[in-house]
Amino acid sequence: MSQPFLSIELLTQQFPDGQGGTLTVFENASFGIEKGEFVCILGHSGCGKSTIMNILAGLAEPSSGVVKMDGFEVSGPSLDRGVVFQNYSLLPWLSALKNVTFGVKARYPDWPAAKVEEHARAFLAKVGLEGDVVHRKPSQLSGGMRQRVSIARAFANQPKLLLLDEPFGALDALTRGTIQDELLKVWSETEQTVFMITHDIDEAILLADRILLMTNGPFARVAESVEITIPRPRTRTEIVDHPNYYAIRNHLVQFLGQRSKELAGQASDGAAQRPETVTIDLTEKTEDQSNPQLRAVND
Ligand SMILES: Nc1ncnc2c1ncn2[C@@H]1O[C@H](COP(=O)(O)OP(=O)(O)OP(=O)(O)O)[C@@H](O)[C@H]1O
Ligand SMILES: [Mg+2]
Repeated sequence: MSQPFLSIELLTQQFPDGQGGTLTVFENASFGIEKGEFVCILGHSGCGKSTIMNILAGLAEPSSGVVKMDGFEVSGPSLDRGVVFQNYSLLPWLSALKNVTFGVKARYPDWPAAKVEEHARAFLAKVGLEGDVVHRKPSQLSGGMRQRVSIARAFANQPKLLLLDEPFGALDALTRGTIQDELLKVWSETEQTVFMITHDIDEAILLADRILLMTNGPFARVAESVEITIPRPRTRTEIVDHPNYYAIRNHLVQFLGQRSKELAGQASDGAAQRPETVTIDLTEKTEDQSNPQLRAVND
């Protein structure tokens, strides 16, 4: 069987629980992500989403298990994996443009300065930042602009894998919507692989090919992988009219409201904990239902 682009195998994370015992955040978590996929992960606060992401980024080591990207084990951070944190994490003493060129220079040390700048400006333009604004420092930018710089910076480095930890959490709904659209645009143009944590169900449905659902911790599990059976390109106003939209949304709400608790706290007994694939497609069902009707008419 061929390996997926990103392969998470038997990942376990334990921490001291602060009272002399051990907290098992998750145990033997196993799943894969294909090249070019946009995967979102949803789960309640504290279930272990950021812990998984930090391990994928190479910023933290798991207690056991491995992550492989392109067949190679992830160990330590790398320019192949770009990270966008919730708190922007821009360098405050550099302009928006320099925040982007800084990474591009590290990624492509052989490029002349003019090419680095052109490349950085092109990615800033993709997220709507052009003209004088690129010379402003982070403190002179709005929250939404700062987040755009973070996204431009991450994409400009052209990492093989982009990791986003609730990147839009602090933004108002309007700005969030605009940046979601920009993220989709850049992603579809660059064909990068994206793993994104979010608390926003509608955001996840708009953006993702697949949504991973995590149960509550401790012993949290990535219990389901829900396919988003809504064709692209998607727009926020049109997807709500798709027959699968509310069926998928209800499934996610039901999981987070109820089953994430019911399935919580189960040790793995050493077995790999793989998510179950869930495909909700009412368009197929509609065709199936219409067939008997058709047959009835033909008879
Ligand atoms: N370095 C650490 N030492 C001890 N416990 C930790 C450490 N990092 C995380 N934890 C614990 O691991 C669990 C998972 O934390 P994590 O940050 O991954 O959650 P999360 O799913 O990202 O939550 P949120 O949605 O609130 O960001 C929590 O119970 C947290 O207290
Ligand atoms: Mg988190």
